[in-house]
Amino acid sequence: MTVSFYSGQQIPLEMHKVRIVQKLNLPPVERRVEAMKEAGYNTFLLKNVDVFMDMLTDSGVNAMSDRQQAAMLEADDSYAGSATFTKLEQKIEEIFGKKYFLPAHQGRACENILGQVYVTPGKVVPMNYHFTTSKAHITVNGGTVEEVFKDEALNLTSEDLFKGNVDIDKLVAIIEEKGADNIAFVRVESGTNLIGGQPHSVENMKAVRKVCDQYNLKLVYDISLLADNLYFIKTREDAYKDASIRDITRELADLSDILYFSARKLGFARGGGIATNSEEDYLRMREFITLYEGFLTYGGMSVREMEAITVGLDETMDEEYIAQGPQFIQYMSDELQKRGVPVVTPAGGLGCHIDATRFLSHIPQEQYTAGALAAAIYIASGARGMERGTMSEQRDENGVETLAHMELVRMAMPRRVFTLSQINYVVDRIAWLYDNRELIGGMKFVEEPKVLRFFFGKLDALTDWPTQLAKKFREDFGESL
Ligand code: F0G
Repeated sequence: MTVSFYSGQQIPLEMHKVRIVQKLNLPPVERRVEAMKEAGYNTFLLKNVDVFMDMLTDSGVNAMSDRQQAAMLEADDSYAGSATFTKLEQKIEEIFGKKYFLPAHQGRACENILGQVYVTPGKVVPMNYHFTTSKAHITVNGGTVEEVFKDEALNLTSEDLFKGNVDIDKLVAIIEEKGADNIAFVRVESGTNLIGGQPHSVENMKAVRKVCDQYNLKLVYDISLLADNLYFIKTREDAYKDASIRDITRELADLSDILYFSARKLGFARGGGIATNSEEDYLRMREFITLYEGFLTYGGMSVREMEAITVGLDETMDEEYIAQGPQFIQYMSDELQKRGVPVVTPAGGLGCHIDATRFLSHIPQEQYTAGALAAAIYIASGARGMERGTMSEQRDENGVETLAHMELVRMAMPRRVFTLSQINYVVDRIAWLYDNRELIGGMKFVEEPKVLRFFFGKLDALTDWPTQLAKKFREDFGESL
């Protein structure tokens, strides 16, 4: 249910009030140019004091509720047997119906354990789409990722409401080609991160389950972005429009053998974990938790965070809470489109995704189209987004660039953090940038790590375009920040 305005305006209404605030700093454009340069034109390396709106990610930066903060005060600190852990374990069983819960410090820690336990050299993991860390933990163990997304997934201006769906024919074909014995597991990612937060449907998940049963394969379900996916199922999948969020969640969880999540996203806190009903799988993974994460009743998480996750998971079952992110993203995407800015459609979860290929059609992928746009958006607005394109890939063994399927800039929407006027501000600055897009130029690496280079890599602008952009900003905006 959404609230309609008498005026006919279509804007999302926050169903919460703000009770704790943090002051923001918006440095002048000249400082933004300097800060971007100091950060090697990599938004990951900006310091938060230079950032006005931190839209890098929704990871670990979602606003907590009063109930979460209250729960954090009564956390039970102990190395073993903490009552806080029992509460979390019970909440996992209540919501997802999984008996065994293995705590871990964040999502990639779960991926490390899944990779070490199930992936051996030569094994293949088919999936709807990879996430950077999920792929890295498969390849580091000698496995390979086979993406079995539907062709429509890469169509950036689509009407398809479930672009995150697995292409069942491709899944079957890859299992037949590689042989079921060589498949480590099938991975489904809810709210597919790298193709723009696009959801999968329950119907598709059922079809994946059927294939897994047919070939006797495990279905591993990454539910880090489940909250957005649940909202989309509820609002886009006809058969579920009257189902409760809880029932949808349970149905999806029951279709998986193992599920794991980053609680930096799911549950509005910080942490992670793996859940299953199989004692055998639980026992296989258990020793790795104690080896890498910590004892089985905290797994690297603070008890305070575990309390917050327990409440946060409960709140994820509340449609009014989980609607805020997707509705704000939809609003931002619509407003940008009205101003001609190319964005990924339909609007997905996680953030508003800007199509850098169409925004900067004069910059080739080898000059990091999306990276250049992310740097330019920061200079124009003080808002930092994240490059999701060729910079986020890595070169092949011969040093040749792997060109990404798409060049996107993700302006993440941390849940319940920004107000609508702040979103209007960033829309306004991106629209200005779009009208001045010919001023933006390409970039080259000057320091390039081999693995996950987008985190630490440093680049330089190929020309003095950042300064020219700031000059034009001054001409157009005068004294304004
Ligand atoms: N799976 C998905 C779908 C993710 O989006 C992430 C993280 C992870 C796993 C790994 O979890 O960060 O807790 O180790 N995504 C973050 C992002 C980093 O910014 O999109 P983590």
